Amino acid sequence: MDRFPAEFADLLTRKGRRILEGRDAATRDALLDPARFFVPIAGAIEPDRARAAHALLDRRMRTALSPLAAAIPEGSIWNQTRNYQERLPKTARSRTAFLERRTGKAWKTAEAIGLIAMMRSTSFRTFAETIAGRPLGTEFGQQVLCYGPGDYAGPHTDHHPEDARAAKGYIDFHVSFGSPAVAHQYLVYARDGHFSEMVDVNTPGGITVYRLPFWHYTTPLIARRGREAAARRWVVLGTFLFAGAAAQVFRGRQA
Ligand SMILES: [Fe+2]
Repeated sequence: MDRFPAEFADLLTRKGRRILEGRDAATRDALLDPARFFVPIAGAIEPDRARAAHALLDRRMRTALSPLAAAIPEGSIWNQTRNYQERLPKTARSRTAFLERRTGKAWKTAEAIGLIAMMRSTSFRTFAETIAGRPLGTEFGQQVLCYGPGDYAGPHTDHHPEDARAAKGYIDFHVSFGSPAVAHQYLVYARDGHFSEMVDVNTPGGITVYRLPFWHYTTPLIARRGREAAARRWVVLGTFLFAGAAAQVFRGRQA
């Protein structure tokens, strides 16, 4: 595979197409449920195409990535003056390409391999809409993430109270291309105020849909022994706002 297909639908299995067409009762409108913030979907992407996508991203996007690192703040332990005073801001380590500047190398590469077009395709957006259960408005974020050995994201909410368009919630749509060189990586998320839920995100082609904000974290990617050099999980990520009035009536509940 030299290019991503022009339509996201062309990566999908029969199950994936059923979901896209809103014919799968388990996923259709799933995020309309006020208690649900997260929908993981396995088996929706053709494994062969997912492996080819992983290889394509490995081949072309790696050199366009920038490191993304926010460590545990220095002094977060020894500056404490009271017991149990610790506070942890969002920590993370991975590599990323924000696809925002058309003049940037990341954009140009993503465009050359058809990734921009696929992420803007009708079926990409419709898939997210089907799970969200309501019309989605302007897309305001496109990003590629690459997790290598030891890369992770600490507990965070992805709440954006300073952005009026997103302050009441929004949808993230992640397409994940894992690798057999990875032993494991999980997404842990909160339900009823506790980090009690966990899903495997290192599948050949996995889809996760988020109604943000809510508490979640990504465990460190652990490579299979001797396969560290090839152990990478790629995430193609689209962020969508709710359309028009839907954004006004939306009420997020933070778990
Ligand atoms: Fe997040």
